[in-house]
Amino acid sequence: MIRWQNLWRLIPLWMVLLLAGCGDPTTSALRPRGPVARDQLFLMKLSFGIMILVVVVVFVIYLYVLVRFRQKKGEKDIVPKQVEGSHTLELIWTVIPIISLLILAVPTVQYTFKALEDHRGNQDALHVKVTAHAFWWQFEYPSLGIATAQDLVIPTGKKIAFEITASDVKHSFWIPSLGGKMDTNPGLNNIFYLQADEVDTFKGICAELCGASHALMLFKVNSLDPANFDKWVADMKAPATIPADAKRGEQVFKDNCLSCHAVNAQGLGAGPNLNGFAKREMVAGILPHNDESLRKWILDPQAQKPGNKMPAFGPNGPKPLGEQDVNDLIKYLNAPQ
Ligand code: CUA
Repeated sequence: MIRWQNLWRLIPLWMVLLLAGCGDPTTSALRPRGPVARDQLFLMKLSFGIMILVVVVVFVIYLYVLVRFRQKKGEKDIVPKQVEGSHTLELIWTVIPIISLLILAVPTVQYTFKALEDHRGNQDALHVKVTAHAFWWQFEYPSLGIATAQDLVIPTGKKIAFEITASDVKHSFWIPSLGGKMDTNPGLNNIFYLQADEVDTFKGICAELCGASHALMLFKVNSLDPANFDKWVADMKAPATIPADAKRGEQVFKDNCLSCHAVNAQGLGAGPNLNGFAKREMVAGILPHNDESLRKWILDPQAQKPGNKMPAFGPNGPKPLGEQDVNDLIKYLNAPQ
């Protein structure tokens, strides 16, 4: 008997069913935007197809048996035909699962090995080294001599040969629209590739519980057509020209921030490289890019992303900055260069 008062136990199930309809089109493995993601969606559809087929066949047979062999009026104590040890039946229910598993396994193994191909030495591919830090992402382009953070910029129509690792704990690099995911392990380099079809912006996420701000360990992926990508590379390498009204802010930055944050083409530090920061879409990967977000972040980064390693520069921080300094710093960071 169903105890209706126990139905609340099913709340998680209802929530899953309700939330399954939610989603951000820039973060969906069901809306593939590149060949690897399409291969992976094909595998998902194939496995779902096989599962649904099995469920349908089993239910049809079950319902047929229920109706066909039910006890009719006047029938009593009928012993059905005994089929124990039937070679035919045992062959059928052994061979069919083996065939369905083979249909699933062959393309799965094939696409898995394909996605793990190492294209680092491939002239037509772009090599990108990814390092996951709690709670931000560092991207290096060894063949181009540039490094950046939080906004991954890639050309369209080109294989991106990822070499991924972590500096602290295990994270997982995932761009649902393009494929993945792949663990980032300290001391290990994992290799795989992804590719974007068209000019677009996607969301990247950390898919491994890694600490207090795991859910905030987000990044942006901008796919640019090859000409615009080359322009972005040239901009990243060009020496910055600091507008006159941002010079004071540059000095505040040098005195307080430069020990962790590089602002040149390929510098790496304890914090994200901020070269080209003014053009990034987000602050810290989570806040909309504007002066107010930047102020919140500088004054109290822990309030925005708990557990991150940036010290607060607000009145309660170890090295409080005056209001003028903060304003100048924001002007410098957001200065068009
Ligand atoms: Cu990094 Cu979760």
